[in-house]
Amino acid sequence: MKKDFLHITDFTTEEIWETLELAKEIKAKLKNREEYKPFKDQSLAMIFAKPSARTRISFETGFFRLGGHALYLGPSDIEIGKREAVKDIARVFSGYNDMIMARLFEHKHILELAEYASIPVINGLTDYNHPCQIMADILTVYEHRGNLNDLKIVYVGDGNNVVHSWLHLAARIPMHFTCVCPEGFEPDQKTIKLVEDTGTSMVEVSNDPKTDISGADVIYTDVWASMGKKEETEMREKLFAEFQVNSAMMESTSKTSLFMHCLPAERGREVTDAVMESPNSIVFDQAENRLHAQNAIMVKIAGKM
Ligand code: CP
Ligand code: NVA
Repeated sequence: MKKDFLHITDFTTEEIWETLELAKEIKAKLKNREEYKPFKDQSLAMIFAKPSARTRISFETGFFRLGGHALYLGPSDIEIGKREAVKDIARVFSGYNDMIMARLFEHKHILELAEYASIPVINGLTDYNHPCQIMADILTVYEHRGNLNDLKIVYVGDGNNVVHSWLHLAARIPMHFTCVCPEGFEPDQKTIKLVEDTGTSMVEVSNDPKTDISGADVIYTDVWASMGKKEETEMREKLFAEFQVNSAMMESTSKTSLFMHCLPAERGREVTDAVMESPNSIVFDQAENRLHAQNAIMVKIAGKM
């Protein structure tokens, strides 16, 4: 049966660890310019209903470096779900390509794409989650720390798609995950319950920007208004003002915490320029690891290992 990657929880804990080790191996191969072409003569269709820099470049570069050809289909090219039904695109593309990566608005559309496609489908972000991002992020933390023991992650900002994928990871890898967000911007309750039901991790949600974040290994943030919600930027700026990650917040952790952001960052809003440029900021390692984590995900779901 074909395998998709739509949520972090589509992988078992063992599969996540295998993916992280594989990502490190493939990263070394690419850096050494070794001959490694598991996708020789294959094609990847990349469907984007929303804008992208990292996801597009990392998937296109990654699939090419692994021997294949990636095709970019932008928001106005196929108008998935509007010009043509998602389930029709799924079957048409399955006749041409070996894999699909899609960035869509509605989460139900990525589920439908995967259900009707006979080739593996990867979720490159929906309104609900962003699993490739969090696989790259945990790879980055693993590389920096050398292990994932006693991990304390503090996310500050909007309880959005990125948070949902962190929660999915918390259902597989033990951690203490805290989301500090304004009232009304909490992550999805069902997703929190999913983690709690596994008993794997401790999850806390707080609406107090002065929440004790001491001992955090990572302070993570993301834009206050995600794609599709940009018209709320001004309104959110007022509500989120106290939730900015700045030097004072970074210093309040009483240890050298790493700063992470999935990017793109809106400097001066959710994070200051000083924090972005500080020695503890690992945002560009994170961005690079999108390439390596995704290469491992593609190799794994295609059964090429
Ligand atoms: N982090 C991330 O997914 O970036 P893009 O939106 O630029 O792809
Ligand atoms: N939460 C952000 C992530 C961008 C990579 C968004 O959905 O716009």
